[in-house]
Amino acid sequence: MINTDLRQQIIALKQQRQAVILAHNYQRPEIYDVADFIGDSLELSRQAATTTAAVIVFCGVHFMAETAAIVCPDKTVLLPDLGAGCSLAESITVDQLRAWKAEHPQAVVVMYVNTSAEVKAEADYCCTSSNAVKVVQAIPANREILFGPDMFLGAYVQRQTGRPLHIWPGECHVHAGFRQEHLTAIQQRHPRAEIILHPECGCISQCLYMMDQQQLTNVKVLSTSGMIKAVTASPADEFIIGTEIGIIERMKRTVPEKKYIPLKEDAICKYMKKITLENTLQALQHMQHRITVPDDVRRRAKLAIDRMIAIG
Ligand code: 13P
Ligand code: SF4
Repeated sequence: MINTDLRQQIIALKQQRQAVILAHNYQRPEIYDVADFIGDSLELSRQAATTTAAVIVFCGVHFMAETAAIVCPDKTVLLPDLGAGCSLAESITVDQLRAWKAEHPQAVVVMYVNTSAEVKAEADYCCTSSNAVKVVQAIPANREILFGPDMFLGAYVQRQTGRPLHIWPGECHVHAGFRQEHLTAIQQRHPRAEIILHPECGCISQCLYMMDQQQLTNVKVLSTSGMIKAVTASPADEFIIGTEIGIIERMKRTVPEKKYIPLKEDAICKYMKKITLENTLQALQHMQHRITVPDDVRRRAKLAIDRMIAIG
């Protein structure tokens, strides 16, 4: 079936089912065309929490759909492909977190939203790339903090807040691959370009060090939606983009007259790309695959998410 037919069928069925389609910024362009809202993890969880629709079709990865199921248990949350996982979310299990907590019984636990519901249920606070610094700043200065599972985000937060953190050694397989050498090589070809990095990037600590040494300027560290706002607001007309390359299409649609250079051409999240128009249509046709969270886990995980949302 051609995309126009699929798109029309999805839009018609979406109305019939009183459904809303929430899509992450890394989704395929054809998914943007059927989405009601496109955003980063924090914006998507806020949308899920406030939508009046009966059904949420989540065009993103599993932990995002699970977060929607945690914040709105009265809604039907569908993930078009159960294979849409996340290597970062898999880098810490609930048993590993419990063991870590047992070593630091007095610590406050901050877990990135890229985690399973069980892991969130063991956390005091959840955070996303756009509010991790604020969440850590909101914790009293005398408290010990366990931060996970992304070690690059952890290093960034530690530097921005000046707080010593215990950091879990997890990573995202896409962002961990970004190296300082990639940046240096691209920068030589595009010396005027503004550099925008996601805090999960493997080169983040080195970049921050170079910024401190005045060897690198013109760098911003932002969530995926923060990046889109930055390219919109910046007077620059050329940007080096350090994140999954799907976002570049979103930037081109938002500010078409500017130039976007991927820091790494092969930075593709295979999990995000599992979502297609075909399986989005099937999700609506067959009301599949429903994402639910057991009630006791859900209530505990929701506390950590609510604390995050209250902070910002
Ligand atoms: P954002 O919350 O910045 O969209 O990040 C989500 C993610 O999975 C990045 O890899
Ligand atoms: Fe997870 Fe990395 Fe994909 Fe983001 S890009 S969803 S962190 S695997």
